[in-house]
Amino acid sequence: MEKMWSGRFSAQASSLLDQFNASILFDRELYREDIEGSLAHAAMLQKQGILTTDELDAIRRGMAQVEAEIENGTFEWKISDEDLHMAIEKRLTELIGDAGKKLHTARSRNDQVATDFRRYVLRKDREIAFQLKQLIETLVAIASKHTETLLPGMTHLQHAQPINFGFHLLAYAGMFKRDIERFVSSRERNNVSPLGCAALAGTPHDIDREFTARELGFDSVSINCLDTVSDRDFALEILFNISTMMMHISRLSEELILWSSYEFGFIELSDEYSTGSSIMPQKKNPDVPELLRGKTGRVYGALMGLLTVMKGLPLAYNKDTQEDKEGVFDAVATAHISLDILNEALKTMTVKPENMLAASKKGHLSATDLADYLVEYCGVPFREAHFITGKAVARAEELGIDLSEITYGELRAIDERIGTDVTEHLQLAHSMNARTSAGGTATLRTLEQIVYFENFLKELDL
Ligand code: ARG
Repeated sequence: MEKMWSGRFSAQASSLLDQFNASILFDRELYREDIEGSLAHAAMLQKQGILTTDELDAIRRGMAQVEAEIENGTFEWKISDEDLHMAIEKRLTELIGDAGKKLHTARSRNDQVATDFRRYVLRKDREIAFQLKQLIETLVAIASKHTETLLPGMTHLQHAQPINFGFHLLAYAGMFKRDIERFVSSRERNNVSPLGCAALAGTPHDIDREFTARELGFDSVSINCLDTVSDRDFALEILFNISTMMMHISRLSEELILWSSYEFGFIELSDEYSTGSSIMPQKKNPDVPELLRGKTGRVYGALMGLLTVMKGLPLAYNKDTQEDKEGVFDAVATAHISLDILNEALKTMTVKPENMLAASKKGHLSATDLADYLVEYCGVPFREAHFITGKAVARAEELGIDLSEITYGELRAIDERIGTDVTEHLQLAHSMNARTSAGGTATLRTLEQIVYFENFLKELDL
């Protein structure tokens, strides 16, 4: 099999080399970007008088057929063609003859792959951001129904203070909002066209890089060709952005797993998104959040992999760089399915406010409120208030009740500055609603946060 680059070679490439060297089995993923890139390049060459109108027409006709063959599965992906760029160009030339051979004028596979891969990543930045938007919509919709649903807020996974479930979910809305912003800013930063950089140094042909940049939807043309053909920061960024997003997803997943256990019982995942055990007939397992938690690992792996590939590479293109793609494709596929299934699992889960309330009555969640009450209404310094509250908690423990259930008489016996209004302050709903400082859990504040996220979603233009 003649290689496109075989001019200076006298012996055939070994089939072992073909296997080792080829990217064609995975870079096919970029076929649409590759064809669009070639069409934009050809249109530019014609505009600049480098190709004739007839040649451009032939290229367009031929490419339409190549695209159809790829899409209907008749295109032959041969490992000896090395990569999709050469496979497509070769097939084009088979179909249309000499015009096909002119397509690669003023272009190299180095700027070609940089263009294709960059456009793929920019497209995925947007698609993932869009899915994240849907996820936030779901979280906000559930949060809206639960701005008064009490549950124990925790630190160290120990009961801390009462919060509402909506407030808890909105914490994740905040994380996913920052994730969206990261994908958006990566897109903005990296939206420059590599096409026309050729192998590394530009080209002597009279090309118009602005034209191809516009045709391909880039904001502008890259500044330095040597940098551009070697740059894979855009790929690292999407891997970092997906990694951070998966880290957030893994934290929510962990909570879903805990919450769906008998010990918590705060939610139940729907049958559609739960699995059974092959031996224990009673089991309903949270495989979905567990796998989401687990898949975070492979995405981190892809990020570390590419950082390591890029480390210490001299300028400009090196074949090492071909290792940039598989990790990104895998991370992107993982992001897509993870976001879809998480969104569905959330939409279909059952929330159990009664169990959340029952749990809130354990662990003296309103202890801080007693201390705050002593400070605010009785003029007690906070440290002393903390100590008195400790005594009250110990008394409640003795009585086998929660501090929110203790009587005025019991408290009065501990400190006589305490007034009759104290019991109201110890009610869990009162405690939650007392946290009215900016960003706090009070229902009032939670509702403001809902409006904030709704406005963000409304104004988000992806
Ligand atoms: N298959 C290569 C890659 O994915 C394309 C660029 C190859 N360029 C070269 N000069 N060998 O990185």
